[in-house]
Amino acid sequence: MRVVVITIASGLLCARAAAAQTGTSGTTTASPTSWRSIPTLPSDIDQGKKLLANLENPNAKDAQKLCPGYTATNVRNSPGGLSARLVLAGANCNVYGTDIDQLDLRVLFGPKSRLNVRILPVEIAGEQESWYDIKEDYLTRTVNGVHFNPTDSELDFQFNRSPFEFSVARKSTGDVLFSTKGSKLVFENQFLEFRTELPEKYNLYGLGEVMHNIRLGNKYNRTLYATDVSDPLDENLYGSHPFYYEHRYAKLEDGSKKGYAHGVYLRNLHGQDILLRKKSLTWRTIGGMVDLTFYSGPTPADVIADHVKTVGLPAMQQYWTLGFHQCRWGYSNVSDLEGVVEAYRDFGIPLETIWSDIDYMDQYRDWTNDPVTYDLNAFSAFLNKIHADGQHYVPIFDAAIYVPNPNNASDAYPYYDAGLAADAYLKNPDGSLYVGAVWPGFTVFPDWSAPGTQAWWTDSFQKWHKEVEYDGIWLDMNEVSSFCVGSCGSSNIAQNPVHPPFSLPGEPGNLVLDYPEGFNNTNATEAVSAAAAIEARQSANAAVEPSPTVALFVSQVTQGVDARAINYPPYVINHVQDGHDLAVHAVSPNATHSDGSLEYDVHSLWGHLETKATYESLLKVSPGKRPFIISRSSAPGTGAWAGHWGGDNASKWLYMALSIPQALSFSMFGIPMFGVDTCGFHGNTDMELCARWMQLSAFFPFYRNHNVLAAISQEAYRWAAVADSSRTAMAIRYTLLPYMYTLFHHAHTTGATVMRALSWEFPNDESLVEIDRQFMLGPAIMVAPVLDQGANYTNATFPGGENEKWYDWYTHEARSGSEGKLVDLKAPLGHIPVFIRGGNILALQHPAYTTAESRKNPWDILVALDSEGDAYGDLYLDDGESLIQEKTTFITLEATNSHLNVSRKGQWTSSEPLSSVIILGVSKKPRRITLGQAQLDKWSWGEKAQILKMTGLEGATEGGVWSKEWELSWK
Ligand code: NOJ
Repeated sequence: MRVVVITIASGLLCARAAAAQTGTSGTTTASPTSWRSIPTLPSDIDQGKKLLANLENPNAKDAQKLCPGYTATNVRNSPGGLSARLVLAGANCNVYGTDIDQLDLRVLFGPKSRLNVRILPVEIAGEQESWYDIKEDYLTRTVNGVHFNPTDSELDFQFNRSPFEFSVARKSTGDVLFSTKGSKLVFENQFLEFRTELPEKYNLYGLGEVMHNIRLGNKYNRTLYATDVSDPLDENLYGSHPFYYEHRYAKLEDGSKKGYAHGVYLRNLHGQDILLRKKSLTWRTIGGMVDLTFYSGPTPADVIADHVKTVGLPAMQQYWTLGFHQCRWGYSNVSDLEGVVEAYRDFGIPLETIWSDIDYMDQYRDWTNDPVTYDLNAFSAFLNKIHADGQHYVPIFDAAIYVPNPNNASDAYPYYDAGLAADAYLKNPDGSLYVGAVWPGFTVFPDWSAPGTQAWWTDSFQKWHKEVEYDGIWLDMNEVSSFCVGSCGSSNIAQNPVHPPFSLPGEPGNLVLDYPEGFNNTNATEAVSAAAAIEARQSANAAVEPSPTVALFVSQVTQGVDARAINYPPYVINHVQDGHDLAVHAVSPNATHSDGSLEYDVHSLWGHLETKATYESLLKVSPGKRPFIISRSSAPGTGAWAGHWGGDNASKWLYMALSIPQALSFSMFGIPMFGVDTCGFHGNTDMELCARWMQLSAFFPFYRNHNVLAAISQEAYRWAAVADSSRTAMAIRYTLLPYMYTLFHHAHTTGATVMRALSWEFPNDESLVEIDRQFMLGPAIMVAPVLDQGANYTNATFPGGENEKWYDWYTHEARSGSEGKLVDLKAPLGHIPVFIRGGNILALQHPAYTTAESRKNPWDILVALDSEGDAYGDLYLDDGESLIQEKTTFITLEATNSHLNVSRKGQWTSSEPLSSVIILGVSKKPRRITLGQAQLDKWSWGEKAQILKMTGLEGATEGGVWSKEWELSWK
């Protein structure tokens, strides 16, 4: 290890930033922010090398031209598939690393619709360190153990021996789904490349996490590498999901179209670029295996379910987690939290959960509370009160662990000591601790492969829960983020605590002055003063005196024993961070794990593994309860333990619109519990954007309002119009909670999605390939929000033709499908257009202030008949929280031929009665209505509206509408 002493500029940030702001658009002021008088890290501590990404380098070596490809030999049928040896077909090209001369090809057929193709280096002793295969307990393997008969498969694998090329086709349609024909396989220790042909104008979806419209472009690059960055468009973000599906439309003889989808999952989480070109897709990774799983579909829903089953079915959520959540960075003490909870109650806006950002911590250290502002006694009293009121509390938890200053006895931090004793932290290649920097100062990072980590993690969460009774955990900064390049703290922990190398929102020079697009039209005066403040800030920043300098030691740790160029791999992915350097704003690639793996190989799994460890811990904290976790970083299968929020968006209309494709992509990735920072995180929001956004997010599975430090307050009660809009949308959401919960049950048991693209529900309708400004919640609800500033209408497509029925949620008015055309819909502020698809039955519950109260309310049944007079629905019931349920009930509702049949399976009972049944699309006035044997007389029917409404059913269903089977008939 070489240690260099350098002097670098550092500032001492003032204790209290002048961040108080005047209210805008009728809001109250945001509280000022504070910061400690501690030395600031120099800004250049997070600067890496300026590298040229291969994709932007016109002179980059072309592996396809330079490399020889492979020849297949020794081809054999093996149980459930075939195997072969692939031998390098010419001289080594070593284009971005060292060629692997001999590879194993293993083709394994899975259940009918799945096929796994693996290509991996032949295991030669001594070479293992040059390649990395993801451990099975990190990411489940697609096809394992059981052998399936290839002849039963819907997929066919063909290959050519020399040059080695392969293709995968769907047997029933003969469609070639993936073909490497005409391209070479390149397999080096730091570079893989393979290419598939694609049809022209392909419709391809997935490959996240990236902010983009739902359908990916045909001349476009994607990069995947987990990173901490504020939601730039088309760049790599917090999670890595190398999965796509492609949707093709075949013309049938009668001129109609039929859609066929198939999916491809690459089980490889190394940094990677994916090149989408006119008629091909090229995958390039900087390590790992070719481990491809093909899903035959044929519908997008089939493909997604297959993928989700492969990576891990999503966790079943506790019922309360579907309620509304309020969060912000900047609730500076317990009274702030109390005030927010009370104000929601006073304004009659349902609030299920209050969240804490890092403000609650003692100097930003995990598992601690600030002794003054979040005094444990006051805090416990607050938590007891909200728990008694049926509400919940979720705190943030950061990935990095503070290292106490060894020269300062009063800086003790026992949680760190316990982790050190458990040998639970990442190391440098020389075996010393890897020390980066995050909010609290210099920090270390848990090593998920170390044998002692889980016990220390669980113990820490258990201890903390004895002080603070949290109901879930919000995992942040787990990409894993670090604010400096390399082990910058190795020789500097005696300076701890230190301030991050940038100013926080609200600190001098960094006031939050931005507003949504169009703010100047709606709030002209405030927009003028914001513009003036921005100008003033520029000149004030220019006048800032240079800060005094302090000496920091910067350790430059050598590469270690791995033969690869770990810190600067020869192929430079188009990574979003400055200079494309993998070490910028993250733990560096050479950080070493106890099992010998390097961060280089497992970086994008850090958050996934932290989530898994936290899930295990929460099972011990609250035995028997489903853990509630929201994680920022994710990988295939994270949904089995957690939900995800869309990271740091901005208070902009564009970001609200993009939240829909964001959510849909996480549906594809098996993380249905998804939502974004409603009303926007960065910048200030305004009344109109917040009103629209509170309504839109009410239909997302995870519904949380969150805001950056020092921005104006944006709780739903801050503006009368936002309060009204929120109440309206929340009343719908809470009415639909049993439906949403049932959707989660299906997701958890079958891999079905909760939030859906229209093209998934109507897979034969080609007009829907790009539709992502409206969406479906399950099969029954379509949402068509207003996404434009100043608009009082929106337009939406109604899939299907004359025979498709859509009913307005509010008026129950029926309309037919619009045959691919957009229809104008009136949508003044406060109104979000919502429709029910004919053919569905919804079991609805009267909304209340909390989900617990809602669960005790009477039910309504809404039957939306299709044009044949049929409809179907279901309902899953359980205790709403237990991981293993002793009793559950599954209700099936079927309407046909003027009969509604309610049948049940299971033992769960509840006592709420039925209040009403409304049937939409009843064309003839019934003469007689019976519920079981009893004739009903409280009903109405309208000829024009064709709505049949039966009320006052409580008596007939006393003791619980779902406690027995029954039948309703209207003849
Ligand atoms: C980054 C997170 O994305 C954001 O939601 C949070 O407010 C800040 N960290 C501060 O903890």
